[in-house]
Amino acid sequence: MSLLRVENVTKRFGGLVAVDNVTVEISHGEMMAIVGPNGAGKTTLFNLINGVFFPDEGKIWFEDVDVTHYPAYKRAHLGIGRTFQISRPFASATVQENIAIGAMFGAAGSEISVDQAMEMADHYIGLIGLSSHRDKLAGGLTPIEKKMMEIARALAMKPRLLLMDEAMAGMNPKDIDKMVDFIKRIRDEEGIAIVALVEHIMRAVAGLAERVLVMHQGAKLVDEPTKAALSDPRVIEVYLGVPPGEADA
Ligand SMILES: Nc1ncnc2c1ncn2[C@@H]1O[C@H](COP(=O)(O)OP(=O)(O)OP(=O)(O)O)[C@@H](O)[C@H]1O
Ligand SMILES: [Mg+2]
Repeated sequence: MSLLRVENVTKRFGGLVAVDNVTVEISHGEMMAIVGPNGAGKTTLFNLINGVFFPDEGKIWFEDVDVTHYPAYKRAHLGIGRTFQISRPFASATVQENIAIGAMFGAAGSEISVDQAMEMADHYIGLIGLSSHRDKLAGGLTPIEKKMMEIARALAMKPRLLLMDEAMAGMNPKDIDKMVDFIKRIRDEEGIAIVALVEHIMRAVAGLAERVLVMHQGAKLVDEPTKAALSDPRVIEVYLGVPPGEADA
């Protein structure tokens, strides 16, 4: 059984079809990237999976639960975690407290005490390499440290599926490589399926994903193993705007 199944999902904004009859499945522990030109519907698909929006048509299953109309917090309890493109930490709380809040709202949330949440936070702070910032106020972190904290907070929610929105935007190649290694490690160590929405960082896509879903004008253009997807003529055409072979190299 797949971990997540998106079945013929459509989302319209007025007359615009932002997500057009998309079907996609994700297995336990899988690592997938979603790419596509601006306006392709990537973020909207994320929002449908995580419960920010409900689809106009189609169904979304998480394991054997029909979550199509579940609110976001209920999906988080089931194990659908998410990092946001723009992190909004509680600036006047410490790094540890911010991550502990994730633990308290996540899958284990109802059963853990504040002390246990702080302990869980410690674990993820160590994992992500922020130990020296543990007691600092989140407001004082650099943008990249904030992104790392955001990921630790999402991990503390104990997701089985982690949706990462632009986690590597603004990073230099060295930081991207470090992040790719880290994401692979948490996938292996925590057994989490990861779907990363990566715009324009092919270095990250190639280093990270086993499979790539390419979206174009709301629809699924290609869903293939990474190498095949990135060399698919249809994908090259969408990115370059001309059929392959006619582009100046
Ligand atoms: N809340 C909204 N209200 C109206 N239209 C929206 C809304 N969210 C997205 N859209 C439109 O839906 C289409 C898909 O947008 P979406 O943000 O999902 O694309 P994207 O692939 O994430 O693009 P980008 O690479 O620019 O982030 C776009 O035409 C966008 O303008
Ligand atoms: Mg987007």
